[in-house]
Amino acid sequence: MKGKKVVITGIPGVGKTTVITGAIENLMNEGIPFQSINFGTFMFEMAEKEELVKDRDQMRTLDRSIQKELQARAAENIRNIDGNVIVDTHASVKTSQGFLAGLPQWVLQALSPDSIVLVEADCDQILLRRLSDESRTRDMEGSRSIEDHQQFNRSIAAAYSAMSGCTVIIVKNHNGLLNQAVEDLVKAIR
Ligand code: AP5
Repeated sequence: MKGKKVVITGIPGVGKTTVITGAIENLMNEGIPFQSINFGTFMFEMAEKEELVKDRDQMRTLDRSIQKELQARAAENIRNIDGNVIVDTHASVKTSQGFLAGLPQWVLQALSPDSIVLVEADCDQILLRRLSDESRTRDMEGSRSIEDHQQFNRSIAAAYSAMSGCTVIIVKNHNGLLNQAVEDLVKAIR
């Protein structure tokens, strides 16, 4: 049984997982079931088992060849999941060796999404969310650098669209307007 495949991205701290959780609940209430698959969790479970990392935030510090190998294996595992699926992942990952494409050609081909969603927020708000999230080892960087990353993600999403024919959707997740972001995501993917 095939269904819709939607890839949802957003830079760390933008709140993509929070927005996805709300959207899945609303869609379920409308009788449109979606399951959410976290791409990073697939990578982390393999990396942890192979004793490469102790927490998920260490993955972006691994050598890029190892990150790419984990990425390809995660995509292969996700390829055959049927039904309506949201893949929670990254358009690009900021590493010490430069931006790493989250959906290089082989990953894009395996996931074959109908749409790619970019969840965005104001850079200062993202910075504050990272600072107040004690559960994770968030990268600390300035607003300008966060802005550059969001810009890069728009550019690379355009490339993904050109390569695969998927649409690109932008959802804003402003402070205090989570419900609006959830509703915008539901409208875009239902
Ligand atoms: P992953 O765990 O997906 O990374 P992440 O970006 O850190 O994901 P989170 O879900 O924690 O961040 P989020 O921004 O969605 O935040 P949250 O909803 O918690 O991936 C882990 C790793 O896997 C990556 O670093 C990478 O190494 C690897 N990886 C994954 N995909 C890959 C790929 N394709 N290729 C290569 N590597 C890959 O929200 C954050 C905070 O904001 C919360 O405190 C929340 O309460 C708050 N918040 C949210 N919305 C609002 C709002 N509207 N107003 C106020 N506060 C809000």
